Amino acid sequence: MMHKPAKDYIVFPLDFSSLKEAEDHVKLLDGSVGMFKIGLELFIDQGPSVVRMVKENSKAKIFLDLKLHDISATVKRAMGRVANLGVDLVTVHCASLAMLQNAVDGGQGKTGVLGVTLLTDNDAHSVKAGGFQPEYVDDPQKLVMLRAQMAKDAGCTGIVCSGREVKTVKAAFGPSFLAVTPGIRPSWSLLENDDQKRVTTPAQAVGLGSDFIVIGRPIRDDRDPVAAAQKVIQEIEHAFQSRSSN
Ligand code: C5P
Repeated sequence: MMHKPAKDYIVFPLDFSSLKEAEDHVKLLDGSVGMFKIGLELFIDQGPSVVRMVKENSKAKIFLDLKLHDISATVKRAMGRVANLGVDLVTVHCASLAMLQNAVDGGQGKTGVLGVTLLTDNDAHSVKAGGFQPEYVDDPQKLVMLRAQMAKDAGCTGIVCSGREVKTVKAAFGPSFLAVTPGIRPSWSLLENDDQKRVTTPAQAVGLGSDFIVIGRPIRDDRDPVAAAQKVIQEIEHAFQSRSSN
C-alpha cells in the first residue's frame, strides 16, 4: 500500500510560552516532522505572528488548535480569517451540524476542519452532569461516534481521536476522513508521572490507520529532539515494512 513519508505523520505541538522557543523548535525540527500544531497558549499571546513565523521557517503544514465553539455565523467568520492566514487544519467542537457546516464553508476549501468529539478529560460523571442521555453516560464512546458522524456529515476533513478509536473511525468513515491522534508515547519515552494515561505508540497508531500523530514531550524533552524525531520516523518505517511483509 502507498503511504506518505514517515516524517509526514508526525505533528509537533508548539507548546511553548514564548515565540522565541517556538521558533527555535521549528528551525530545529524542520524536515523531521510533517506538521506544527499551534495551541491556545501561544496563539493568545502572540496571535497570527506565530503562523507567519512557522511559514518563514518551514514548509511543514500548520494546524491551529483553536477548538472553536460559538454561534454558526461567528464560527464561519472566524474560519474565514483563519483561511486567510494560510493554515491547513483547525479544530472545531462537534457541537452542532450547522456550526460545523459553517466552519467548513468559512474555511473556503483552504483550511480543513477537524472535529473535536469528546475531550479526553471527560468521563461518565461529567457526561451525566452535562445533561446527556443515559446511553451516552453508560458508553461515552457512543457519543464520540455520534459526533464523528456529525463531523463527517458536515463535510469536515476529519476528527481528533485517541489511538483506541482510530480503527472504528476509519472503518465507519473511510480512509480519506482524517484521524489525528494525540496521546502518543514511543516505548522508549515513557515519562514519570505522565498525564497522558491511555497512550499508544507511533507504530500502533499508524498501524491502526492514524493519519497524523501528535507527539510533544517525548520529542521536546529529549536531550536531542531531532534524534528523538528520527527514532519515531524509524519506528513508523519499521511498522510499514512489517505490514508489507505480512
Ligand atoms: O505528547 P504530549 O502529551 O506532550 O502532547 C500534548 C499535546 O497534545 C498538547 O498540545 C495537547 O493539546 C494535545 N492533546 C492532548 N490530549 C488530547 C488532545 C490533544 O494532549 N486528548
